[in-house]
Amino acid sequence: MITIAGFAIQDPSSPTEKVYASFTYRRTDGSYHVINCSGESSLWVSNRMRLQLNQPNKTAAEARAELVSKWTQKKQKGYRSVLAGPVVFEVASTSRNNIDPRNLVAAIKLQSAVMSAGPATVTDAFDKLHAAGPSRLMNSVASPVPQPKLALPAAEVGGIVLSDGRRYFSREVAGHSDVALLRHLREQTRHGGPSQLNVRFFGTPGGGKSTLPVAAFGDELIVMYGHGDMTVGQVVGQYVANGSDLNYVDGPLAVAMLKGLPFLMDEASRVPSEVLNVLMSVSDGRGLLNRDDLPGAEPVRAAPGFFLMLSYNDSGVGVRPLDPALMRRFPIAIEVRADFAAATEAGVDIRAIEVAKSMQEKSDEDRDNSGDGFWVPQIGHLLVFQQALDAGLGETVALATLMSACPDPDTLTTLQEAVTEHFGINDPAPLTLGTRVIAGAP
Ligand SMILES: Nc1ncnc2c1ncn2[C@@H]1O[C@H](COP(=O)(O)OP(=O)(O)O)[C@@H](O)[C@H]1O
Ligand SMILES: [Mg+2]
Repeated sequence: MITIAGFAIQDPSSPTEKVYASFTYRRTDGSYHVINCSGESSLWVSNRMRLQLNQPNKTAAEARAELVSKWTQKKQKGYRSVLAGPVVFEVASTSRNNIDPRNLVAAIKLQSAVMSAGPATVTDAFDKLHAAGPSRLMNSVASPVPQPKLALPAAEVGGIVLSDGRRYFSREVAGHSDVALLRHLREQTRHGGPSQLNVRFFGTPGGGKSTLPVAAFGDELIVMYGHGDMTVGQVVGQYVANGSDLNYVDGPLAVAMLKGLPFLMDEASRVPSEVLNVLMSVSDGRGLLNRDDLPGAEPVRAAPGFFLMLSYNDSGVGVRPLDPALMRRFPIAIEVRADFAAATEAGVDIRAIEVAKSMQEKSDEDRDNSGDGFWVPQIGHLLVFQQALDAGLGETVALATLMSACPDPDTLTTLQEAVTEHFGINDPAPLTLGTRVIAGAP
């Protein structure tokens, strides 16, 4: 195994969606070998990228500078999307002095993309490689098993287009793409019976909990929006009047199980507990649902492809915590929180992102000092801000959407300071109606 540092980036707006990849590794004599490849996306897909630069005999400092400068140059030229890395990974090779670039391209594809990467991430990757180098040469102890990485298909790396035209930018969960992880878990249900690896998403509103499953499963996803008046019948199935007849109609959960589709109970913390109890037997590995309203009916059995998800807000007005017995049946718990890289990709004004980042830092700091933290604008709020700007409403109105979204007065002061710092606007505030507009002035 040979350790490599590298990355692959793409210019999604070029006609052939060009890809550029840079790699470096250490040779037996201690020098570094730098390999850069480029080519249209079809060549990337088929591991046939063209070799641009093949330079052995670089010093560590030169190799590092080469990697960082390629990253910076290409980013400036429009290579906006990160396909893989910057990362340190391993390839199998018989010769440490000569590695086929095609193997490098094939191997880096298995690595996930660090969406928020910048030149510092490239430097970090190189430094990790540098640190790994000598020890590995001295002893031939088995190299660490590379972590599996679930990555998106290249076509979706620049954003997944949802059926309503919005784009979702995949985010990283423990090194995997969030979307790829969900799809992978669902695939597991096709082998060896119902999966117990049910997923729950939690976090503050606007973070993307509801959108992530839609991005992963598109039109196949069956969603129910939880509310306080939800009944077992609405979820499982009930008799519905049809003229003078009463027909039993399966509810969305039963339909998802029968057809083997992914199912999301959104806003689960608003759902009455007797309805949530229905999910117990469905989620515990048996994959069974009783149709109590249909006397004599067999329980519904989950077909392969059925995959269960919950989402809930873990803070906010009127939020009841979920029953621990239910939480236990959803062991893949993912906290969905502000992701500024996705917001940047979505084209949000950098100043607004800076405001959100500084709120996140202040909130973390406050929590470190045993405070309750502050409200942090989530991607949803940043997108609304940007829509208001794009609609020509001006910064004052756009910023007012952020101010109005802020749920607590302590945070508002901190938020105002951050806005003043980044936008140079004094006393930003929610909108109020002022004096009358006089129309038709002379
Ligand atoms: N990763 C993402 N990329 C692009 N847009 C996103 C992303 N995550 C969330 N959004 C957008 O942010 C908004 C809020 O997301 P939503 O899923 O409703 O949040 P939540 O359910 O956590 O309250 C939506 O408009 C959604 O399209
Ligand atoms: Mg939601």
